[in-house]
Amino acid sequence: MTIQWFPGHMTRAKRQIEEKLKLIDVVFELLDARIPQSSRNPMIDEITSTKPRLILLNKADLADPDGTAEWAKYFRAQGHATHAIDANAGTGIKELAGKAKELLKEKIQRQIDKGMKPRPVRALIVGIPNVGKSTLINRLAGRNIALTGDRPGVTKGQQWIRFGGELELLDTPGILWPRFDDPIAGFRLAATGAIKEDVIDIAEVACFVLHILVERYGAVLADRYDLEDLPSKLPDMQAAIDVLESIGKRRGCIVSGGNVDYEKAAVLLLRDLRSGKLGKMTLERPE
Ligand code: G4P
Repeated sequence: MTIQWFPGHMTRAKRQIEEKLKLIDVVFELLDARIPQSSRNPMIDEITSTKPRLILLNKADLADPDGTAEWAKYFRAQGHATHAIDANAGTGIKELAGKAKELLKEKIQRQIDKGMKPRPVRALIVGIPNVGKSTLINRLAGRNIALTGDRPGVTKGQQWIRFGGELELLDTPGILWPRFDDPIAGFRLAATGAIKEDVIDIAEVACFVLHILVERYGAVLADRYDLEDLPSKLPDMQAAIDVLESIGKRRGCIVSGGNVDYEKAAVLLLRDLRSGKLGKMTLERPE
């Protein structure tokens, strides 16, 4: 489901997260490992400033491992603890409690010094729609509890999910809005499926993605769609349209009269990209 975010929704979402922050020790900020910057809420630092935060690069199974390593290095250089996970398969999940405790080690030590037994670390998952919040909560809960699909401003009774003896998670995530200021980020979000296809020009998104794929993953692209003479870089939009046309021809995306159906070719390309059939790919790199 695509949410239309209006200023009122944002204010309410921000306020709801601030309420939840009072209950927890640490924030898990979920990003899409394929587009960590574009899938990041622009006000995250301000909204979560009162709590330590662990950045989780989710969907790492779909991202280029080199790209994920670069992003982890980038975020760490900015002083953020960072960890790559695959919430679908559960990869990287068991380390979460340890990573969270690491962030809180001074507080925990103070409790120990006072003779207190540290209680489980309490965490809140935050992120923009479609980044995998429900999947991660369900994975940690070991069952389906969170509704997939978000609506800003809709709340329900909150409960704690226990994961092992050391981590407790609020069962409702903090839902944040994506960036709207940057059209390129919008294209990247659309490419990964975070923005639904009925509100975008899919052929335009495919052409945008082709610029990245040709430059970074040209050999994979040429191999999958049997493309000949693929340049190392696409100079302009027309060159991207030409590649999309070749993909359409190779895959039989033809309308009556024999012309290429660009929309069909775009759907095919993006489906292959999102499902990982094109391989592990990262669509943006740190500046
Ligand atoms: P949200 O609560 O943040 O909105 O996201 P949600 O968990 O609903 O996940 C959105 C989609 O991303 C789901 O696909 C989910 O299976 C997928 N997903 C979540 N984490 C991972 C991961 O680590 N790896 C991979 N490969 N996929 C992940 P979906 O049910 O097919 O939904 P949709 O794509 O049709 O929207």
